[in-house]
Amino acid sequence: MTNSAVPQRGFAEAGADLELVGITKRFPGFTAIENLDLKIPAGSFFALLGPSGCGKTTTLRLIAGLEDATAGRILIGGKDVTETKAYQRPVNTVFQSYALFPHMTVLENVAFGLRRRRVGGAEALAHEALSLVELDHLSARKPAQLSGGQQQRVALARAVVNRPALLLLDEPLGALDLKLRRQMQIELKHIQSTVGLTFLHVTHDQEEAMTMADTVAVMNKGVIEQMGPPEELYELPHTTFVATFLGQSNLATGAVVTSTGTTVVVDVAGQKVSVPRERTRRHNGEVTVGVRPEKVALHATEPARDANRNVLGPGRVTDVSFSGVSTQYEVTVPALGVFTVFAQNTSIARMHHDGDEVWLSWEVGHTFGLADGDASSPASRFLDDTDTSMIATQRREQLETELEEA
Ligand SMILES: Nc1ncnc2c1ncn2[C@@H]1O[C@H](COP(=O)(O)OP(=O)(O)O)[C@@H](O)[C@H]1O
Ligand SMILES: [Mg+2]
Repeated sequence: MTNSAVPQRGFAEAGADLELVGITKRFPGFTAIENLDLKIPAGSFFALLGPSGCGKTTTLRLIAGLEDATAGRILIGGKDVTETKAYQRPVNTVFQSYALFPHMTVLENVAFGLRRRRVGGAEALAHEALSLVELDHLSARKPAQLSGGQQQRVALARAVVNRPALLLLDEPLGALDLKLRRQMQIELKHIQSTVGLTFLHVTHDQEEAMTMADTVAVMNKGVIEQMGPPEELYELPHTTFVATFLGQSNLATGAVVTSTGTTVVVDVAGQKVSVPRERTRRHNGEVTVGVRPEKVALHATEPARDANRNVLGPGRVTDVSFSGVSTQYEVTVPALGVFTVFAQNTSIARMHHDGDEVWLSWEVGHTFGLADGDASSPASRFLDDTDTSMIATQRREQLETELEEA
């Protein structure tokens, strides 16, 4: 909307694109970011996803100008801002802790930055931003009279009202309970498409990244391992880390026995697994192949062999957990380990039981081959203490303690 009174502040104005070129950030004795290249198109919702400590906040701080890069350049809207002071960058950041001024009303909190910069019509703009987060009716309240989710929405309104070209969100929903978080995710996405800003959303929650972003970059130890639309990352992960951090994967490693123009066949513990040539990053030597749990079917008897399906087995059901819409089976296959299978509960009777002998099968076209080595080696396994749900729980407990103490 281009309003004649405040022409430069219309919410429909497109956000600028962001480009990071060869960014490296070294702290004394520690490299947090290694030669990072990233291009985020204007108006997109981009998620930077990775476990705690992988360098997400450092990346945001570099973009915001709160930290200097050791090497590399940062461009916003095509303009080199590497040497630009933080307050001169067209960037706003929303952090996990909302840090609202407790003595000010909601409206004053949102209008604060505009007033300080002597922007005309601050109050009207603040009301507009509060309407966007559906909180204008509470504009006279103090932050303490709001719920956590409402406070976070105020923090969002406070950032959006400044019309930054680029909005950086550092785990802004981490403090909220699951239901509120889902609600806020939908709201954030709605706001982003309404105001047309470029959003760079940092999170360790893979579901959050996948449901909200147009593009997800998966970060591991200061390096982006893979970047693309969520469906692409999910259906065709390139590395063990991406395959296991973004959703679950069944992985097995073995030597290539046949490699044709269309198919690569891998021998995993004496059983053959085929992967389409264009779906594997490696075509000879040792290859780790994988398949997502919902792509796998269970059979009580050995299924007929078919060139379009991979079959493994027999194995034994070692765990069954029913979760309403689906049932998760753990199947232990000798010499290969445990496979996870998600089965939709389309029939009332449970198909397989703990201890049953079963075979696994899935379409060859659903198989993927990874770029990195042995999935069973401890180095490439994802450690329990950095599991996403674990991080989320720790965060929540930590915040609950803080809240109780406050
Ligand atoms: N000022 C600093 N000095 C030294 N190391 C730091 C500093 N800031 C961050 N780090 C380290 O850089 C790594 C990345 O941190 P951070 O970007 O905060 O991770 P994330 O936000 O992904 O959890 C961590 O190992 C952290 O300990
Ligand atoms: Mg962080």
